[in-house]
Amino acid sequence: MKKKTLLFRLAALVILAVFIPSCSSSTIKEAKVSSKTYKDPKASVEVRVKDLLSQLTVEEKAGQMLQVERNYLSSSDIKNYGLGSLLSGGGSTPRENSPEGWIDMLEGYQKQASKTPHAIPLIYGVDAVHGHNSLLGAVIFPHNIGLGAANDKELMKEIADATSEEMLSTGITWNFAPCVAVAQDPRWGRYYESLGEDPQRVSELSGPYISEMQDKYNIAVTAKHYTADGGTKWGTGYSGGIDQGNSSISDEELRKIYLPPYENAVKNGAKTIMVSFSSINDIKCHANKHLIMDILKGEMKFKGFVVSDYNGIHQIPAKSTYDKVVTAVNSGIDMFMEADYWKQTLDSIIKAVKAGDIKQDRIDDAVSRILTVKFELGLFENPLGNKQLIKNQVASDAHKETAKKAVRESLVLLKNENSILPIKNNTKVFVSGPASNSVGLQCGGWTLDWQGNKRQPVGNTILDGFKQMASQSGGEIITDPEQATKADLSVVVIGEESYAEYEGDDASLTLDSGKALSGNMSALKFAYSLNKPTVVIMVSGRPRIVTDEIDKWNAFVEAWLPGSQGDAVAEVIYGKYGFKGKLPVTWPKDSKNLPAKANNNILFPYNFGL
Ligand code: GLC
Repeated sequence: MKKKTLLFRLAALVILAVFIPSCSSSTIKEAKVSSKTYKDPKASVEVRVKDLLSQLTVEEKAGQMLQVERNYLSSSDIKNYGLGSLLSGGGSTPRENSPEGWIDMLEGYQKQASKTPHAIPLIYGVDAVHGHNSLLGAVIFPHNIGLGAANDKELMKEIADATSEEMLSTGITWNFAPCVAVAQDPRWGRYYESLGEDPQRVSELSGPYISEMQDKYNIAVTAKHYTADGGTKWGTGYSGGIDQGNSSISDEELRKIYLPPYENAVKNGAKTIMVSFSSINDIKCHANKHLIMDILKGEMKFKGFVVSDYNGIHQIPAKSTYDKVVTAVNSGIDMFMEADYWKQTLDSIIKAVKAGDIKQDRIDDAVSRILTVKFELGLFENPLGNKQLIKNQVASDAHKETAKKAVRESLVLLKNENSILPIKNNTKVFVSGPASNSVGLQCGGWTLDWQGNKRQPVGNTILDGFKQMASQSGGEIITDPEQATKADLSVVVIGEESYAEYEGDDASLTLDSGKALSGNMSALKFAYSLNKPTVVIMVSGRPRIVTDEIDKWNAFVEAWLPGSQGDAVAEVIYGKYGFKGKLPVTWPKDSKNLPAKANNNILFPYNFGL
């Protein structure tokens, strides 16, 4: 044999030796189709699941258990590994952030999935937590804490409808919402994602949202974060804060406060539940087999699938990724929301099943739950959802009107000396303050970007609404401080920076520290100097400490995070609609003795509102 040929063959062998182990270890190349019954839409879900499951290799089963963040994919991963799900993390949007841009992107992913032997469609998830907030131009609704104040079950259905229609316009059929946290401590950066501190109200409002979104639009919801994410203690959380911390609770508190919203979610047919990063009595929820297998899947008979939080399993205290994965799977988690380490997680599942560290029936339980949801959603027939269900398009007037109604009903009137509100006809109003003219600040976190207020959402500001109402009532709006003395009264709109998760943890909660906007106090002081009646509106995801300032205010309105239709705030301030909102949380006097209610640290009690 010529020397040259020999060398060439040797080189080829070396290259093969290098590549085969890495790409063959967990690819689905052994997959074979032995029956097509599962493809028959007339067959029952149970029959389809059983038929499909029975012919999957362990590599295919593990692939279905992986949800990978889209930025961590390389071109042929979906096809090679038979991935079951993808997600857009906060701010992870297609180059062209339009319905067409999303559809093109998702069609590309689903096309890859259709090329696998069993052609199991992907299920794609996003956080549409206050409208389809990843989509540019989407209507952004008030965050949950404002909906807790509105306390309107019908409104929750309308919001679910609008959000579903805007999601289906982009081909997405899985929403990581509603958050059913029962928030206790306003220092928590996720306080605004909660419908309030009362588990009953959290259940009553999340239930209609869940059943509307799933039953009318075939979009899977996610009740999150299981559980007691809202009960953590300051100092036990991420970098010494409170988010992802530890809830030291009795079994009675667990069952009275933190389980009921999940019992309610399961009763309403929630198809997925997301596990909390946090711990209960120092056990990570992601490693808590009793909580997931015994209580959720056992007692509550949850039939959907359990998904981990983002890279959440890597926080499990164990010496290797393999051990973390084995612990997480055996604790009852069915799907793994992964980014950086998704391939190690996939390999670990396959290795652990082959080694017997994970039992076959645990894997089959996980995969049958995942496949059941995919068949129930009709993904094998409509991988991008059923667009026939869309009645109103993205940013339609109908969706905007729903959002304006939510804004109006969420406002809480906490003080109104001499009935200074509503503002009378022909009034000259000086409007100031750092949150008076910013759609980004009105929307807060989880809006286009994870932390919000970066790319500006489409919408109307509170100031826009004041100008609108003044023109309808013969009044005048003044924004130039030089002209302020001409005004009859002063309105100051103060607020918070936008934030999400642990970035929003705030130890102090005063008006000029932590996540408070830097312009709050200067705007207030200037208004005080005018010696005119002063109305304060606060745009915030939670109560802040107003005890030392509120005596200087003639009226005080909490607007929470109203979203893109902030102009609706003025419709209530000018009396076109009455105040309806009631506090969904206790408003503390100070930020030392928290949670407020438990420490009798109360400026305004739960359910207060004039
Ligand atoms: C985040 C949040 C969770 C969200 C997920 C995907 O870390 O904890 O609420 O659904 O990751 O963005």
